[in-house]
Amino acid sequence: MNNEKNIYGITALFKSPDEIISAAGKVADAGYKNFDVNTPYPVHGMDKAMKLKPSRLGFVTLVFGLSGAALALIFMYWTMSVDYPMVIGGKPFFALPAFIPVTFEVTVLLATVMTVVLMLALFFRLPDNKHPLHDTNYMKLVSKDHYGVVIESSDVQFDESKVKELLKSLNPVNTEVVYYPIAEKYPIFQPKFLMFLFITVLVVSGGTYFLLNKLMYMTPFDWMMEQDKLTPQKTSELFSDRFGMRKPVEGSVARGFIPYPFMGVDNPKEVLMNPFIPTKENIELGSKKYLTFCSPCHGDYGDGDSRLKGQFPNPPTLHSTRGREFSDGMIYHIITNGQNIMPGYSSQISRDERWAIVNYIRVLQRAKNASDSDLELAKKETGGNGTN
Ligand code: HEC
Repeated sequence: MNNEKNIYGITALFKSPDEIISAAGKVADAGYKNFDVNTPYPVHGMDKAMKLKPSRLGFVTLVFGLSGAALALIFMYWTMSVDYPMVIGGKPFFALPAFIPVTFEVTVLLATVMTVVLMLALFFRLPDNKHPLHDTNYMKLVSKDHYGVVIESSDVQFDESKVKELLKSLNPVNTEVVYYPIAEKYPIFQPKFLMFLFITVLVVSGGTYFLLNKLMYMTPFDWMMEQDKLTPQKTSELFSDRFGMRKPVEGSVARGFIPYPFMGVDNPKEVLMNPFIPTKENIELGSKKYLTFCSPCHGDYGDGDSRLKGQFPNPPTLHSTRGREFSDGMIYHIITNGQNIMPGYSSQISRDERWAIVNYIRVLQRAKNASDSDLELAKKETGGNGTN
């Protein structure tokens, strides 16, 4: 019983390819599934004789190929159409023809890499490098001039005496029972191998360094650090004003943007209408932008209590009658155009965000000068005690 459990399988050796083909056919005919054939070279017709089904590895390739295509397309869709939509040559954001090369490459990459990885890990069971047939006489002979078949004990039909009988009936050179090795170790990282790795790393990195710095390039190789291009904030040798960062040509209009019509006017007779109703999201956006861009000077609540400690003149409170009587459009105008010493913020804050700030300033103003009906409403919402 104990012995039976430790049997890996029973082998039989033959002298010629014809014998092994017929032997494999007979083993398969007898209904065995878990058996294998070992030959010194591939023998034609063996798959058929063993009644092997096509490998399932192809499905791995298919599944990962399709995932690669889907991943590439979704990623490009997200970057080019959602996260950072950019008009390129007037093409649609999701420009399929332009995405084909990358999709193709990611498909091939994922399919091939995963085929190899899963073949090694699942089908070959790496890093398990032990196999009961290692170091057996059988393995030595089938690597030279014999042809062997092994019926494994994992087969449901396996019965030691029956298998022996079947194999003997095939007229083999010999048959042998192979046992699982008793806790033998096959370490991957032997000192010799580690030494080999270390020397390889040393030779490759040292050699590359020497090749690039001493042989191919006279000056030290600087890995693309020095390039003839302008980095932000650097002076330019090309333009007479030496500015590296260029302003757009005068009169150019950004795609999708109508220029603000009252730029440079201090007190426009008309102003734009607020296109946004103050929803919760809009006010939250406004609050975020106000606290980022306006609060350093105007204070968190618009009282004009600047945090800048005199580095910039304190602005007036936004809760003055004048401030409260501004139309939405007028506040938008001041943010966009600036007013006297306050600079315009049109280059830092988008149009929509500026309107959201206007809505948020209305919230601040209403909170500081609440009417009786506002207080009634607040009481109702906070359960009567007026605090929250
Ligand atoms: C660098 C400091 C600073 C920042 C930042 C700043 N302001 Fe001002 N703001 C001022 C000063 C100073 C004035 C007064 C200008 C004047 O003398 O007319 C002012 C005036 C105003 C006025 C007119 C007030 C009035 O009664 O005339 C409004 C409205 C206003 N700012 C809104 C904003 C908003 C909204 C932001 C954020 C986008 C902002 N400001 C950012 C300094 C600043």
